[in-house]
Amino acid sequence: MIDPNKFGVLLLLTVSFHILLAYDAPIIGILSQETFSVNHLFEEEYHSFIAASYVKYLESAGARVVPILIGKDRQYYVDLVNHTNGILFPGGATYFNQSDGYADAGQIIYDLALDLNKKGDYYPIWGTCLGMELMIHVALNGEEVRSHCSASKVSMPLNFKEDFRKSKLFSEAPEEIIEILTNQNVTYNSHQFCLTEETFTEKNLLQDWTIISTNEDINGFPFISTFESKKFPFYAVQYHPEKINFEFREKDNIPHSLDAMKTSHYFANFFIEETKKNKHRYPDWNSEMKALICNYSPHFTGLKNSSYLQLYMFKKEQEVINGK
Ligand SMILES: *[C@@H]1O[C@H](CO)[C@@H](O)[C@H](O)[C@H]1NC(C)=O
Ligand SMILES: *[C@@H]1O[C@H](CO)[C@@H](O)[C@H](O)[C@H]1NC(C)=O
Ligand SMILES: *[C@@H]1O[C@H](CO)[C@@H](O)[C@H](O)[C@H]1NC(C)=O
Ligand SMILES: *[C@@H]1O[C@H](CO)[C@@H](O)[C@H](O)[C@H]1NC(C)=O
Repeated sequence: MIDPNKFGVLLLLTVSFHILLAYDAPIIGILSQETFSVNHLFEEEYHSFIAASYVKYLESAGARVVPILIGKDRQYYVDLVNHTNGILFPGGATYFNQSDGYADAGQIIYDLALDLNKKGDYYPIWGTCLGMELMIHVALNGEEVRSHCSASKVSMPLNFKEDFRKSKLFSEAPEEIIEILTNQNVTYNSHQFCLTEETFTEKNLLQDWTIISTNEDINGFPFISTFESKKFPFYAVQYHPEKINFEFREKDNIPHSLDAMKTSHYFANFFIEETKKNKHRYPDWNSEMKALICNYSPHFTGLKNSSYLQLYMFKKEQEVINGK
């Protein structure tokens, strides 16, 4: 027979376990993008993709990942943001002008996240490379403000701004990490567009965003390499922390030293700790499991000499499993 008192304790324990779990088992959405840059690797036609390196990068910091498809209705993104603990806008290669594409989905997600944060929720977004460029594109409601840059397959140390230690991203970074980032070629750049300090000044972006570091491309053209939002947990880097430990194509010259790994882990851990600060979650265990990227199998594209070792590919008619 069940003792009603014991049953009450059991219920309480189960409920608190459920709530506690929300704090240290974050689920992050990674935005997919159009397949222009990877189409040639496949015979079948796909609608969008996510590089597996971003998935592994977040998983290595203790998060789980759900894919975010492009071209879905607004409610899909509303549910995604409500159920996940943060968003990553990944790098890659696509246009911002495609209807129902990467930039449109990014705009909806950014606006939802902004709204939540303004209401006191704590909902982080991280942008890497193209994702960094996307962050400013959507912050300016779709304005194209990028400059051309020549920084293909080059690793550099960061030129930190004087008060970079006051940034959220680096205020608690171990001295060793700062030392490595300042002195070694560990930030891996691969981009033909960039954002400049002039643009940030012209577009009044400095009231909302803090420039944390800069770099110069191969022609000495200066660009912003790290920035964060002044008010919200929004962070962006022009370089690729996720390639350090998860991409290996020889001709790309990606640094894989222990010190480079340490910086990659630092960025991943920082972001994931940030995402533990909200209580978003899927309605139940089952819908959580059904949403994870573990439901999909990555394609091995390293064999085809892609710069990506593995890719998650999504069809246009991909069934949406989103905690419903
Ligand atoms: C998007 O921009 C690219 C590059 O500027 C251009 O070639 C393409 O025609 C544009 N596409 C649309 C749909 O506007
Ligand atoms: C970093 O790369 C630059 C350019 O290739 C090179 O001149 C410099 O010596 C490198 N620095 C270190 C610490 O390896
Ligand atoms: C957010 O998700 C929770 C379940 O995880 C649900 O109870 C709540 O109604 C959702 N809120 C909105 C605004 O959809
Ligand atoms: C990939 O690159 C290797 C080494 O350069 C070459 O031998 C091989 O033929 C390439 N494979 C494809 C599918 O292009």
